[in-house]
Amino acid sequence: MIKVLPSLLAADPLDMGREISRVLDAGADGLHVDVMDAHFVPNLSFSPALVRAVKARFPGAYQDVHLMMEEPGKYLDAFIGAGADAVTVHAEIPGDVAAVLRAIREKGCRAGLSLKPGTPAEAAGPYLPLCDQLLVMTVEPGFGGQKFMDAMLPKITALRQMGFTGPIQVDGGINPRTAALCAAAGADTLIMGTAVFRAEAPQDILARCRALEGSL
Ligand code: DX5
Ligand code: ZN
Repeated sequence: MIKVLPSLLAADPLDMGREISRVLDAGADGLHVDVMDAHFVPNLSFSPALVRAVKARFPGAYQDVHLMMEEPGKYLDAFIGAGADAVTVHAEIPGDVAAVLRAIREKGCRAGLSLKPGTPAEAAGPYLPLCDQLLVMTVEPGFGGQKFMDAMLPKITALRQMGFTGPIQVDGGINPRTAALCAAAGADTLIMGTAVFRAEAPQDILARCRALEGSL
């Protein structure tokens, strides 16, 4: 089942509520919240306050929170308490990745692991039993609107060949064209920022991506 989670990083920050309504009304499966700490990646984005505000106004909206943070373990209570339904952390963080993944689940939240482009699929191996989902970065994390990295496609397939049967997300430069490549490689959850929020008709973009179901 192909799912689409628009990334709020690409939404107009001066009109966030309207932007969220627009993509949810267009049929998005939820929202992807890209959190950046200016350490793990050279950018700064959202806080738990945004998750809490979204939860208050859009209580039914699924929130998939991507922590591009050096020390995500310190912020699990804040984001999960604010309303995150899933929290994804990076395999590249210093310290005990397994302990952070376990802590996410212990707090009743879905746990995800993300791999930067330079990190091989094999790095996820030890953590797969602790993951409800995986996120393959198809750009260098930190900024929206970048060019899709085709070289990441074999990594998606490798993760499937390693036996992971849960959702595999792709994030960065995803549009209907690159989504088709990712779906064929084994991904089923599309994180889309620019392609959705800059679209005249987001529902058309979502429909074209959902139609990929048949190509799986
Ligand atoms: C990178 C960000 C972006 C964003 C989506 O750290 O995570 O990938 O979600 O970007 P675009 O605009 O390429 O869909
Ligand atoms: Zn993301």
